Amino acid sequence: MTQFLDLPPELILECLAHLPLYDLNACLKSGNRVLHAIIVNSVLIWYRLEQERACVEENPYLTGNSVISDRLADLRRREANWLNFTPTSRHTLTLDFRTSGIYDLASDVYLIGDTSDENTSLCTGIRYILTSSTPEGVEWHRVEAGKPIADFGTALVEHDLIAMVTYTPHSDNSEMASVDVLLLKFSTGTPHPQATHPTLHVQDVELHRGWPGISIEIVGDNLALSIVYWNDERRDLDTLHVYDWKAGVLKTTPHAVNNTGITFLREDLIIVPNSLEATLDILHVPAYVIGHPPRLFHSFDLPKLEDGHGILSFQCRGEPNPRPSAQHSGPTTTAKFLPSPQDSLILFSFEVDSWTGITEHMFVLNRTSFISQVAASTAEPTTPWVEWGPQCTRFLDSAPLAMHYITVAAGQRLATIAHDAWRRPAPICVLDFNGITVATQRAQAGPVDGPHATVCVVEADSDGGDEEQMDQLPFAGQYLPFAEPVRSLLPYVETTSKELFDYGAVLLNDENIIGARHGLQFGVGSIGSLEVIHFG
Ligand SMILES: *[C@@H]1O[C@H](CO)[C@@H](O)[C@H](O)[C@H]1NC(C)=O
Ligand SMILES: *[C@@H]1O[C@H](CO)[C@@H](O)[C@H](O)[C@H]1NC(C)=O
Ligand SMILES: *[C@@H]1O[C@H](CO)[C@@H](O)[C@H](O)[C@H]1NC(C)=O
Repeated sequence: MTQFLDLPPELILECLAHLPLYDLNACLKSGNRVLHAIIVNSVLIWYRLEQERACVEENPYLTGNSVISDRLADLRRREANWLNFTPTSRHTLTLDFRTSGIYDLASDVYLIGDTSDENTSLCTGIRYILTSSTPEGVEWHRVEAGKPIADFGTALVEHDLIAMVTYTPHSDNSEMASVDVLLLKFSTGTPHPQATHPTLHVQDVELHRGWPGISIEIVGDNLALSIVYWNDERRDLDTLHVYDWKAGVLKTTPHAVNNTGITFLREDLIIVPNSLEATLDILHVPAYVIGHPPRLFHSFDLPKLEDGHGILSFQCRGEPNPRPSAQHSGPTTTAKFLPSPQDSLILFSFEVDSWTGITEHMFVLNRTSFISQVAASTAEPTTPWVEWGPQCTRFLDSAPLAMHYITVAAGQRLATIAHDAWRRPAPICVLDFNGITVATQRAQAGPVDGPHATVCVVEADSDGGDEEQMDQLPFAGQYLPFAEPVRSLLPYVETTSKELFDYGAVLLNDENIIGARHGLQFGVGSIGSLEVIHFG
């Protein structure tokens, strides 16, 4: 009988190379010299391990032709470039047209609403550009809806899909408008071939309710759309709709909401922040059509607010979104490595209103540990903040940060810059929440002062038990509207650039930090140019 270890080494390697990290570690620790030697000498295994450590996947459209040792070197260089703030190139993208307010940054693609129509103040097309492309290749493209667009969402990597929510006044009834979702193939701008119906009709609505606020996300076959008519007294149409976008059917009846932010935790679970209850509600998305609203799976309390305070609005985003089908629809990016969807952070920002004014707050959520919390949630309908928040979230002091955009994080990294950097140039900070990066950096026993940046570990918040520690709390000096501590146990590595930047805001995607500069040409607050700082 042949034992596993009697197989030729290349066959053993072939088997080992597919094992999860945990099992490879077990093999290393088994004390068997043959296994140990095969593992430590295999570039293929090292490459796999380092992809898992960095929480990235290779881009199947690009890496196919290069040898493993080169890919491993590329990956190590990428990670070092980000950690030490060592860009490999920079270029500028100019916006020489008047933009409308809607925008997105999906993998390598920056999308923004084209010039709006004078009558509706809405645009009818979306312009986009690939951020990593070289200056010679840079060109704006446009996808056309042919009708006024209220907002849009994308699933470019998974489905080559752009879904535009349109708001069109009826031609035969001047009091009413039609709200629809247009499903287009992004690369061609034509109706999406997998959609049975290219247009999903959502509702007809009286014009006097005003324009809706919208949030739209697509994962697998599920399209989630939440609509809020902010200017309407009645709240009866403020609802979340879940569609099977391929079949063109509504999976559930509408679920009442108080704000627009939504994000997929997993293909079958949607996080719906609830501003009224100050909770994160988890809705279960059914696999099939059901005749009632999605089931409220569980609620997680946010820190209790002080009396007289209320949450005004919520935004949230996880980039990349989960990708259940493991399908790659096409080369929408030239990045060699893409952040792996199951490990991406989810970013939340919200505004709190009180008699003293409005304050902005922001926290990141560790998707992996939150999924475990959801799986372990008890029969109680809600989990109090202290039982889940400190382990799964990190509140960031958003007061001094530029927070115009929710697109500041991709994978496990997040970029920030001071809000007044446009007049007083400031460093860019990159926060990396990867647990292994934190452990590796911690071994340096103190901040590392490199040529381009200082790198340090920001440990878990202390519990603020004694007076001396109070000064070191992250929010010392910032007024917090919470009636309980917002202590967080998630550490991160912070890279602070030595170079100072005069950006109005920073964004972050797979390979780049993107600095936005405002231009006065098209009015106050409009973006004039984007400087792309490429790290790989
Ligand atoms: C705006 O409305 C006016 C009057 O209804 C019409 O003549 C004009 O063509 C409209 N403009 C556009 C860009 O649709
Ligand atoms: C929030 O939603 C609930 C359920 O639909 C509704 O009863 C309530 O009036 C809403 N509150 C606000 C402030 O919109
Ligand atoms: C999240 O938590 C998991 C499990 O505790 C940890 O392995 C990981 O490094 C953390 N960070 C991110 C960004 O997922």
